[in-house]
Amino acid sequence: MKAMVIGGGGREHTLVWKLAQSPSVEKIIWTPGNPAAQMGAKVECRAVKADDVRGLADLAEKEKVDLTVVGPEKPLVLGLSDEFQKRKLTVFGPTRQAAQLEGSKVFAKKFFFKHGVPTGRAGIFSDLPSALAHARQQPLPLVVKADGLAAGKGVIICQTAAEAEKALREIMEQKVFGGAGSQVLIEECLSGVEVSVHVVTDGGSYHVLAGAQDHKRVFDRDEGPNTGGMGAYSPTPFFTPEIEKITREQIIERTLKGLKAEGIPFCGVLYAGLMLTKDGPKILEYNCRFGDPETQVILPRLKNDLAEVCLAACRGKLSEVKLDWEPASTVCVIMAAGGYPGSYAQGDVIAGLEEAGRMQNVWVFHAGTAMKDEKVVTAGGRVLGVTAQGSDLREAVDRAYRAVDTIRFKGCHARRDIAGKALAR
Ligand SMILES: Nc1ncnc2c1ncn2[C@@H]1O[C@H](COP(=O)(O)OP(=O)(O)O)[C@@H](O)[C@H]1O
Ligand SMILES: [Mg+2]
Repeated sequence: MKAMVIGGGGREHTLVWKLAQSPSVEKIIWTPGNPAAQMGAKVECRAVKADDVRGLADLAEKEKVDLTVVGPEKPLVLGLSDEFQKRKLTVFGPTRQAAQLEGSKVFAKKFFFKHGVPTGRAGIFSDLPSALAHARQQPLPLVVKADGLAAGKGVIICQTAAEAEKALREIMEQKVFGGAGSQVLIEECLSGVEVSVHVVTDGGSYHVLAGAQDHKRVFDRDEGPNTGGMGAYSPTPFFTPEIEKITREQIIERTLKGLKAEGIPFCGVLYAGLMLTKDGPKILEYNCRFGDPETQVILPRLKNDLAEVCLAACRGKLSEVKLDWEPASTVCVIMAAGGYPGSYAQGDVIAGLEEAGRMQNVWVFHAGTAMKDEKVVTAGGRVLGVTAQGSDLREAVDRAYRAVDTIRFKGCHARRDIAGKALAR
């Protein structure tokens, strides 16, 4: 079969790497892809952008692609799956309507309230004066959220009333997120440990993929600004069997039942961001696709053929598949460009890739790289996801950092404490 993967970051490199291991996959078209494609004989890149829905459907038709797997949320929210389904193309990823669970925090919150999915209390506002008045009456800290997609910057935790006012004015008056800020949520601030739970579903049945934990802040000990994610590990001891059971019953199953009741089919990945509060797990948000960098630690542990799992979901036959997991631990450390998530340099040569790539149980996933004069250079904020597996978390962490230490580029920054909370537990 011919597969297609949409997107060009570390998550998509991992999807391509995993699909390439499938005996039934003869060729993978990766669009736009990245330089990692050169390392796989089955892989071919095409220069169609991830948000060019028509262009991607044209390409899939022309190439007679049998299965398309979508990495980022943007094309899903734009209706890629609707366009593919209209043309009878098989696509793993939800329709525009289903993707609203990620694309609109207001839609998601109303859905959670309606279907009894445990989540933080929140008010929804579309005009500034009522939002400001409400915020003044709320206990602090509180959380202000822009409704739409805001590249991971639309959630602001406010410690003071002045901060809340500033956030609301920026979103609703100055429109720093454009139309994504025409509605806001003012939400109760929850505290606890955060975990990511990925579920693959065909709308009817579902499988929980291994639990994982991301590290959003740029510096060690969770200091500094939020990023797209500086590292992850799986499994996580914080996602205990007991918490998993509650999560299944109260969060995932109520969501799937709610989607059914509303007549919204969902095929793809539901990725829940959970806060493990003292009152039990509560949902912060759903994403409608694989996480980045969680994918880098989840897929190396999956023993199944990923193409078969995705196809089964697309055909509504996920219940016929049983997932098998490597008990080993996996850790991914992001090597970022200095200055990220602010401005950073690009075009710096990356040394040591081959040496790290030869290490046992180590995979170097490319996130923001490009080719220049036949050398791999930096081309993004998150540059590489250095991933390692070990019989336990300690071994995986040590191995990952040994690989990180063999790779060099100017200004490189990596957190040194990925999985630290789990090791200290
Ligand atoms: N109600 C809340 N209480 C405490 N922290 C929150 C709350 N909502 C979000 N956060 C924090 O903000 C981060 C981003 O929020 P999230 O809902 O995941 O939005 P997005 O990923 O779209 O930016 C979360 O990972 C969490 O750390
Ligand atoms: Mg999030």
